[in-house]
Amino acid sequence: MLELKKIKKQFNGRTILDNFDMQVKDNQITTIVGPSGAGKTTLLRCISGLEKIDSGSFTLDGKPFDPANNRDNDNVIGVVFQDFQLFPNLTVLDNITLAPQLVLKQSKTDAEKRAQKLIDQLNLTGKEGLYPYQLSGGQKQRLAIVRALAMNPKILCYDEPTSALDPDLRQTVEDIILGLKKQNVTQIVVTHDMEFAKNIADQLVRVEPIKA
Ligand SMILES: Nc1ncnc2c1ncn2[C@@H]1O[C@H](COP(=O)(O)OP(=O)(O)O)[C@@H](O)[C@H]1O
Ligand SMILES: [Mg+2]
Repeated sequence: MLELKKIKKQFNGRTILDNFDMQVKDNQITTIVGPSGAGKTTLLRCISGLEKIDSGSFTLDGKPFDPANNRDNDNVIGVVFQDFQLFPNLTVLDNITLAPQLVLKQSKTDAEKRAQKLIDQLNLTGKEGLYPYQLSGGQKQRLAIVRALAMNPKILCYDEPTSALDPDLRQTVEDIILGLKKQNVTQIVVTHDMEFAKNIADQLVRVEPIKA
């Protein structure tokens, strides 16, 4: 379980998150909802260590955890960004295998074997040699999910996974997230789409804007 206690985050003296508590249970889907500007992305960036918190603490399975410390967080938290942040100059396969080789020190063969399994699972078979610009939006997103999963994160986070997609792809994302839950992947899904959140959530957490 990942636990957030009294998290506070400010930007330039403006408080975005204040005394924020949350528990993320293993193998569950936690959705984070709230209006635009409430601090959902900021929260995700704090959990994944891209932003440093001002005060408060994280524990992972009861032990102190600092997401902003690279060594702590190398393969604990995976993120599927809203704009996917794929490497434009790398093929699908290389997008997936780069970090497992660099960070997890996997051999190229092992990284590619694991990548292929995930590629097949997320329906990207045959796309291995293509570059991101040659993929549709849905395929780019599935690549971003595969790339994150290839690091075997304890928790996989998504920022607004339905926002960049055509409405009819919403169901596909839902199916992917629910499918990964069956494989015991712990997931945090940030969204402003209440209906989507309710469809997938084991737990729904609200982030409210703080008045200045
Ligand atoms: N790096 C930053 N520097 C300054 N302000 C920021 C930064 N990132 C986000 N903010 C501000 O924090 C608030 C919350 O933003 P965000 O977390 O993106 O909200 P949400 O994802 O819920 O729409 C916004 O007012 C935004 O402008
Ligand atoms: Mg956001």
